[in-house]
Amino acid sequence: MIKKCLFPAAGYGTRFLPATKSLPKEMLPIITKPLIHYGVEEAMEAGIHNMAIVTGRGKRALEDYFDISYELEHQIKGSSKEPLLKEIRHIQNSCVFTYIRQKEMRGLGDAILKGEPLIGQEPFAVILADDLCVNENDGVIKQMVKAYNRYKCSIVAVMEVPQNETHKYGIIKPLEQNDSIIKIADMVEKPSNEEAPSNLAIIGRYILTPDIFDILRSIKAGVNGELQITDALKLQAKEGKVLGYKFEGIRFDCGSIEGFVKATNYMYKKL
Ligand code: UTP
Repeated sequence: MIKKCLFPAAGYGTRFLPATKSLPKEMLPIITKPLIHYGVEEAMEAGIHNMAIVTGRGKRALEDYFDISYELEHQIKGSSKEPLLKEIRHIQNSCVFTYIRQKEMRGLGDAILKGEPLIGQEPFAVILADDLCVNENDGVIKQMVKAYNRYKCSIVAVMEVPQNETHKYGIIKPLEQNDSIIKIADMVEKPSNEEAPSNLAIIGRYILTPDIFDILRSIKAGVNGELQITDALKLQAKEGKVLGYKFEGIRFDCGSIEGFVKATNYMYKKL
């Protein structure tokens, strides 16, 4: 059973400077809800109510967002604006939030390792809130939790990307595919077009088994001098303990300006 979801949210978000100078990237809104709000809703839909957030300096807005604002509650009570707080109140009332800081930005793998005290020795979901995923039916994490309940191993969400964009992602080398489930032979972080073993890219949704923490502790920094989650997963994959999952739904790369604008237009049309 997956009970906890980890949100690595300590990155600098430099592509959105100067906005991210004093505002966490995860707090940038798509229409009225910050990116992290969508991520938390996706986890809740999968039956997860324990949200573990890895933050950093200058990220306190994240903690404030999921806390009660007494002045605001007082001001808005009984007014026509009160329904606007309905969704965030629902989150506050049904979830537990825990936080830990990543002191130095040493990469996604390091951010996940920093989350260990909040997760403990149990399998857990990971959502990168800047990847916004939407689907008419089950959300992506719910789909992956179902797959985990069947296969009981680490699972990474994958999607096909244009061959000239492989250098932006962790790319898997598939061994065999059965519907949406892919056995993985190997994976490589940010390969060039020529080096990429496929065009199947890992996006910001994972289910990880807790042995990943020991593996992360045992490996060295990789591409860009950062501790790469792909390098840790690669070792798990060599033992046949990682599956790729071709999810149903649309993913917007809201860490990029183009993806952020596309997501905004998509959500606006759905209003
Ligand atoms: P990104 O590389 O997309 O985020 O990391 P970034 O570094 O904040 O963005 P840019 O490139 O400067 O614009 C993917 C995810 O991993 C988290 C980020 O917060 C983001 O959710 N992350 C990354 C950490 O928590 N810590 C890190 O050291 C690196």
